[in-house]
Order: sequence, then C-alpha cells, then structure tokens
Amino acid sequence: MISPETFQSILLAWYDRSGRKDFPWQRPRSPYRVWVSEIMLQQTQVGTVVPYFQRFTAAFPTVEALARAELDQVLRHWAGLGYYARARNLHRAANQIVAEHDGDMPASQEALIQLPGIGRSTAGAILSLAYDRPAPILDGNVKRLWCRLHAIGNEESPSATERRLWGLSEKYLPRRRNADYTQALMDFGATLCTRTRPRCPDCPLQAHCLAYRTGRVTELPAPRPRRTKPVKSSYWLLLRDPSGRIYLQQRPPSGIWAGLWTPPHWDCPEGLKNHCHRLNLQPDRLQWLAERKHTFTHYTLRYTPALIDLEEALSLVHDRPSRWLMPTHASQLAMPTPVRRLLSDPVIT
Ligand code: ADE
Repeated sequence: MISPETFQSILLAWYDRSGRKDFPWQRPRSPYRVWVSEIMLQQTQVGTVVPYFQRFTAAFPTVEALARAELDQVLRHWAGLGYYARARNLHRAANQIVAEHDGDMPASQEALIQLPGIGRSTAGAILSLAYDRPAPILDGNVKRLWCRLHAIGNEESPSATERRLWGLSEKYLPRRRNADYTQALMDFGATLCTRTRPRCPDCPLQAHCLAYRTGRVTELPAPRPRRTKPVKSSYWLLLRDPSGRIYLQQRPPSGIWAGLWTPPHWDCPEGLKNHCHRLNLQPDRLQWLAERKHTFTHYTLRYTPALIDLEEALSLVHDRPSRWLMPTHASQLAMPTPVRRLLSDPVIT
C-alpha cells in the first residue's frame, strides 16, 4: 500500500503541474468565500457554480452582509442552483456566526459542524482550504480515489466502508500544504480519476493503484444499488390576466421549494378544476399544456400546467403571499428552475 509520504508528494507534484488555481473562490481566498463555494459545490458542478458564486458574493460580500439580508433575497440569488435548503442553512448559519462568533468564521471542526449545513467533510474543506490546517475531507471524488487506489468494493457494509474511507482520509493527511493538498484531491477526482472514462494513462499514481493493477478501474467504486424513484404528480394553475401577468404564490417555509414562488398547484386535476369552479371560471377554458418532468434526489415530479386567460382582473383570496408577475420579470422573484423555464416558454410569454 502506497505510503502517505509517497502519495502526498506524487499528488502535490501533480497539483503543481495540473491543478486548478483560478476559481473565483481561490482569489481572493477567505474563510467566508471558501464556505459559500463549498456549499454551492456540494451538489452542483463547478461550471454552474462559478457565475452564481460571483453574483452571490457581490451581493453578500461578508458574513455580516449575508446575515443582515432578507431570506427572500438570499433565495433569489440561489434560484436555479436547486437544493434550496442549502441557501436557507447558509443564511441561518451566517446569523449564528454573527451571534456566537462575532461575525468570524469559526476555525475549529467542533464549532464548524455546529453550523447548519456543515458536515464533517465540508468542515474539513473549510479548515484546510481557508486556514491551511490538516483536516480530512471525504466527498464523492475522494471516495472514488480511495476505492480505486485500494481496490475497495462493497465487501463490507456501507457504514463499515464509510469508516474505512474516513480512516484513509486521515491517514494520508500531510503536515504541510494542507490547502493545496485538499484542492489537489478534489481536482484529481474531478479531472483525472473521473467516474466514467478515467484517464489512467496520464495518472501519476498508476503504479500504486490496486484497481488499475487488477483491471477493476471501471467497476470501482461499486455502484450503490439503485432504487426506482417514486413519482409524484402535480397540476399547476397558470392564471394570466389581460395584461399578460401570471399569478404566483410563495411556498410555505417548509417542504419542497420552501419560500420560493410557484403557481398554485394540486396533486390531482380535480383539485385544480374545483378551484376554477370556486373562482367562477369554467374548467373547459383551461388550456392543458404538455406534462413535464423534474428530477429530485428522492423522487421524480411530473407536473402539468394548465393555462387560463382571464378577461378581467380577478380578486383572489390570498392564503399566502402572492403576486401577479410579468413573465419577462421572472428574475425579480426566487423561483425554482422548472417555474422559470415555464415562464419563458413561448406559450406563456
Ligand atoms: N468541489 C467541491 N469543492 C471544490 C473546490 N474547492 N474546487 C473544485 N471543486 C470542488
């Protein structure tokens, strides 16, 4: 098994040659910017994150600025990145940092993992990248690297494998260049030891890689058994007033798309039609649009929009915050991607 010293020197030499050094969160680097970028990067590709990161840190340049902002503004800057709990946690954590740490990002594992949205690996990334401390990370890229280097399959239970992988992250930690080392691990997994079509011929660890030596690179890491995702249906009512504005409501503070703006929706078409009856709108005026699909981690949402053109402005009973919005002004409100897409559809605009 490759020694920590050999591993570190090969990886860091590779990083010096081929690592990525011009992400916006690397210049200037600050604990706050590292934190925001790590949260954005948790479920989202680097290419998508970069422009969001730039807009977000321009709007909220410090922990204090983020803490002071209205949640709605924070969500608006997040809209389109998905997994909105991350934005809500970021906002809550900023307030906690102001209240408990005088506005300074904590610099210890114990304090970091007390903050909402920061787990062990993200805490390790912040400590190493922002403070150059020896702190282990274990994200998807690093798991894949360890599984291949040490030919780890699913011989053990998932929790035993997880413990073993954390053990490797600890064991290989260097004493110096911790920020570079962590970034190197991430870059190595993202650009060379990729999930599909890894670039083994270019790999400086090839001679030490047990998966390579035993011809198992493509089977490792062993895929998790896939469960088929449940499907949920939703029916969206698009009320359009004579000036072309669409009626949107703000979602309640918990559940999917919490706090974001969407059209009123029901789980079955009857719910939507009954609502139209109550508004004195004949359901035969509904123009049903094609069903669309949106994939979440745990289920697939199939949603069917129904458009109705109003001849005059309606007075509606509002059970939650609501707005009439021109589709061309969609960027004014925090909306999930499917709603934004729908509003820019030629049928609507
Ligand atoms: N993914 C997670 N953290 C990252 C980082 N700091 N750089 C590039 N990709 C990442």
